[in-house]
Amino acid sequence: MTQRNGASRTELVDKDPGIPNGWYAVAWSKELDPGEVKRVHCFGHELVLFRSRSGGAKVLSAYCPHLGIHMGEGGRVMGETVRCPQHGWQFNGDSGECTDIPYCDEIPKRACVRSWDVVERNLMIFVWHHAEENPPEWEVPTVSQLEDPEWCEPRTFDLEVPVHMQDMAENNMDPVHFRYVHSATDVPETEFEIADDGRFLKAVSYFEQMTPDGPIRVPLVRDTWCLGMSSVESTGIPGAGLFMFSSTTPIDNQNTISRWLLFATRNTIDTAGEEWFEGITKGVMDDWQVWTNKIHIESPVFCKADTPLIEFRKWARQFYSKPA
Ligand code: FES
Ligand SMILES: [Fe+2]
Repeated sequence: MTQRNGASRTELVDKDPGIPNGWYAVAWSKELDPGEVKRVHCFGHELVLFRSRSGGAKVLSAYCPHLGIHMGEGGRVMGETVRCPQHGWQFNGDSGECTDIPYCDEIPKRACVRSWDVVERNLMIFVWHHAEENPPEWEVPTVSQLEDPEWCEPRTFDLEVPVHMQDMAENNMDPVHFRYVHSATDVPETEFEIADDGRFLKAVSYFEQMTPDGPIRVPLVRDTWCLGMSSVESTGIPGAGLFMFSSTTPIDNQNTISRWLLFATRNTIDTAGEEWFEGITKGVMDDWQVWTNKIHIESPVFCKADTPLIEFRKWARQFYSKPA
């Protein structure tokens, strides 16, 4: 546990905010070949992730109900099931039911593990987490840039941060930090919009940029689907399109992993090269430096001008099963 001024991070968190409900990426699609089994720890749960022989990604709770063996360590894919390494019981990847006990012809009724809803999209494998085990309430959006010839092949990167995932999402409603963390010349004028039954949040900040033809107003559009999924788009500079998509996954209530897809329009890559991406990831790393050293404060001291942050905190509450 990291120590800060003699206190642990746990002691410094003034209230456990819990883990919000939603779709979260647990792996990149390319990390899982047919027949491959992986151990995953997400949303405070131990999971076994595997790709069945027919190609589907499956996620089950990891501990075998027989004697509690972790099936993500040494489990084997058998058709559409995963086989426990200890005595060979097989569990169906969709239902979680035990389908075979190789040395017994009767399967106990309780021989079942929890199965998790999985969607593979945007080069990632997403799992639906709901604290009360409710079924999925919304769809994972599709990143259209993946199919659009105007945009380059995406670059990808992962970021592990010892922070509560809500604090990363909060950045999208924090226009003031652009001035201090990202060295913007001023606090950008920002508009906010909430849609889709309140689950979707859009923030647009306007930055003034100098061009040979004089200053232009460049919008930075940030979309957020619930708390764990967001995109950032800038198309305001002619010939320099930028699009980022990320899934931010709670490992537990103090640790987060986010996976990023980074796109630029092909003409941008032609003129600016790979350095273009380096500049963008540097911006994310400036945030990382801040996130990695902060704590979550449940009752922050807000000032009168912090309206967007206050609104964000109210909006975020809906994604928790129990009031934080
Ligand atoms: S512990 Fe899994 S089959 Fe026995
Ligand atoms: Fe930022």
